[in-house]
Amino acid sequence: MPILGIESTAHTASVGIVADGAKVLGLASDMYRPPSGGIHPREAANHHVELFPGLVTQALDQAGVRPEELEAVAFSQGPGLGPCLRAGATVARTLALLWNKPLVPVNHCVAHVEIARVLSGLDDPLLLYASGGNTQVIAYARGRYRVLGETLDIGIGNFLDKLWIELGGTFPGGPALEREAQTGSELFDLPYSVHGMDVAFSGMLTAALALHGRGVARPDLAYSVEVTAYAMLTEITERALAHRRRDAVVLGGGVACNERLRGMVRTMAEERGGTMFAPPRAMCVDNGAMIAWTGRLAFDAGLAVPIEASAIQPRQRTDLVPTPWRGS
Ligand code: ATP
Ligand code: FE2
Repeated sequence: MPILGIESTAHTASVGIVADGAKVLGLASDMYRPPSGGIHPREAANHHVELFPGLVTQALDQAGVRPEELEAVAFSQGPGLGPCLRAGATVARTLALLWNKPLVPVNHCVAHVEIARVLSGLDDPLLLYASGGNTQVIAYARGRYRVLGETLDIGIGNFLDKLWIELGGTFPGGPALEREAQTGSELFDLPYSVHGMDVAFSGMLTAALALHGRGVARPDLAYSVEVTAYAMLTEITERALAHRRRDAVVLGGGVACNERLRGMVRTMAEERGGTMFAPPRAMCVDNGAMIAWTGRLAFDAGLAVPIEASAIQPRQRTDLVPTPWRGS
């Protein structure tokens, strides 16, 4: 039976309905776009509260599924912005009570990883999870997804978004910078900050803004930032592949939409005799289908909870969440 998933950790309110084998039956999403600047959590949460009733109806209609045909309701428990998480969790609890269905909390990062993994068809790949708030190289080991390397300051997506907004653009910055970079050609020197399997981006943000102040054109700046930042991610992914003796890498998270990142990681993996897989864009960015699919795995592993135990976890970490469906 299908599962309904609710996503609301940050900018996107989304409802997905997914059947066995990760078949997406229905998906309805809406992204909050601030008129200027970054995301204000309360305004994003208000957007979600207003949009969710319509999104639930839309996803059910698209799937051709009636509420009584659902097996459970899953939701993003964390990590994320408190007010946004609360909006989604409240909707999920209400639907679970109304329809008398089990409630299944899901970790948002694990969901990015699981949807990418199932779509790749690979059983145990290394994962590069590159999104707004997170940048992690992940491998499964002994009951948990282990974070082998990560950002020491801000997520790659937040870095790209901040830079673009400082350059006069609006959120989200990643796709806009990708378009801008297509016409750039001159590579300017920027801080390349790799520490073992970790990375950092705030130095690059400061340096890129300084270059902008000195009159470097936006396309060249975007090109230089993309090449430098994605080379950093490619390097830590390669180090993790070598260290863990894996040959397959799967990309997930919103920044995995980026063609240059996909290309650089693919080249690296293939030069090592391995493979790279990146899901379709709609499954890289935040979406309810990844929550529904991970909800399916969690529900089958007995992880449904009573309402009283469904509190949101704004700081929940990838490596602290049990994943019994992967074995112990
Ligand atoms: P997290 O998973 O850390 O909570 P998130 O939920 O904010 O992050 P996602 O939807 O997974 O977000 O990713 C959004 C991010 O992806 C934004 O920072 C956005 O700029 C970036 N992004 C989307 N498309 C592209 C692209 N084509 N190139 C680079 N970045 C992109
Ligand atoms: Fe995300």
